[in-house]
Amino acid sequence: MKVLVVGGGGREHALVWKISQSPRVSKIYCAPGNGGISELAECVDIAATNVPEMVRFAKEHDIDMTVVAPEDPLAMGMVDALKDEGLKAFGPTKDAAVIESSKVFAKRLMQKYGIPTAEYRTFDDYHKALEYAETVRYPIVIKAEGLALGKGVIIANNTDGAKQALKSMMVDNVFGHAGQRVIIEEYLTGSEVTVLAFTDGKSIVPMVSSQDHKRVYDNDEGANTGGMGAFSPSRMYTAKVAEQVEETIIKPTIEAMAKEGRPFQGVLYFGLMLTEQGPKVLEYNARFGDPETQVVLPRLKTDIVDIFEAVIDKRLDQIDIQWDDNAAVCVVLASGGYPGEYKKGYPITGLDRVMEDPQTVVFHSGTRKIDGEYYTNGGRVLGVTAVADDLDSAVKKAYESVSKIHFQDMHYRRDIGRK
Ligand code: AMP
Ligand code: GLY
Repeated sequence: MKVLVVGGGGREHALVWKISQSPRVSKIYCAPGNGGISELAECVDIAATNVPEMVRFAKEHDIDMTVVAPEDPLAMGMVDALKDEGLKAFGPTKDAAVIESSKVFAKRLMQKYGIPTAEYRTFDDYHKALEYAETVRYPIVIKAEGLALGKGVIIANNTDGAKQALKSMMVDNVFGHAGQRVIIEEYLTGSEVTVLAFTDGKSIVPMVSSQDHKRVYDNDEGANTGGMGAFSPSRMYTAKVAEQVEETIIKPTIEAMAKEGRPFQGVLYFGLMLTEQGPKVLEYNARFGDPETQVVLPRLKTDIVDIFEAVIDKRLDQIDIQWDDNAAVCVVLASGGYPGEYKKGYPITGLDRVMEDPQTVVFHSGTRKIDGEYYTNGGRVLGVTAVADDLDSAVKKAYESVSKIHFQDMHYRRDIGRK
């Protein structure tokens, strides 16, 4: 069968890599893809957000299944548009993807259905938000309502910080329309865990747990990024916690979406805080996480195409999904300056040496291939993933591989997966 993957980052590389292992797949396209992805798929020069072109391509090339990975095309209704043409597509419809694209929707859903999350207030009015910020106990968390590339969350430690954040979101519009409405919520403490779950709208199969590292520097210092690394499993996510999360969060969320007339089919991402009062939802995403996918999929034993098909055909309960009892760690190598400004186009060396290692796989986030050589082409450039029997060995292996790779001004965290 012919599969089209929409997107062009490390997550999509991991998806293409896993799909390429399916004996059922004869050809993979990826739009727009990237340098690394071009080894396994034919990259197609269509932007991930170009819905009409994507649908036309899928029709013209008799694509049997399109996997829509990033949030923007999901929020724009790419899955709806493909389905309207009678094409098979993996991912939630626009109505269901709203669980990520509107944080206010997500918070109201949780409130209505008693799903544990941080206390919050919503503001459309800058002055009212400012007034409120004078009265609260710090720290507080300020979130832009809409999609903001994972960067629309600011933790304010005092009134001044809150004022600055509110001004940048609501007056200076640094996140555009996404920041016109904000949520101010209670600051939660505890351990963060990511749980991705396959769901066909009725049945739910949680994947193995993972954790990502969002801050740019070691010890979780510096600005938030799209993710500087990840590991799986989480040390905190015991069987007991997993059961509690399934009963109090995962199942109620899927049921709530069905009751709201927005049945969710695809992968639902649960960003959780394990607090002293129990697990609470920090955020939902309507898709696979990045870089969590780069550590979760290498542990999946089952053919992912079979799972995607079962989700699309609403028969997820009939398939047995198996995982390896091992661990994976992904260290992201970023361009100098990221998550701020950075330069592109530096040659990358050492990849061939790493690729010889059966325990390591390098997923490309931002690379270009020119005349057989790789060049940097994004803020996050590579995700070096190592798989081993346990987390400590996977950490060791990942950093051993990282030490062989080089490009100018490369930077990365040294503490991925260590705690
Ligand atoms: P989000 O995009 O909502 O996951 O937020 C990004 C990051 O901000 C999360 O991964 C947390 O580290 C942090 N964060 C978000 N909401 C809260 C909260 N209520 N309390 C503490 N930290 C939070
Ligand atoms: N790793 C966070 C995200 O995918 O949004």
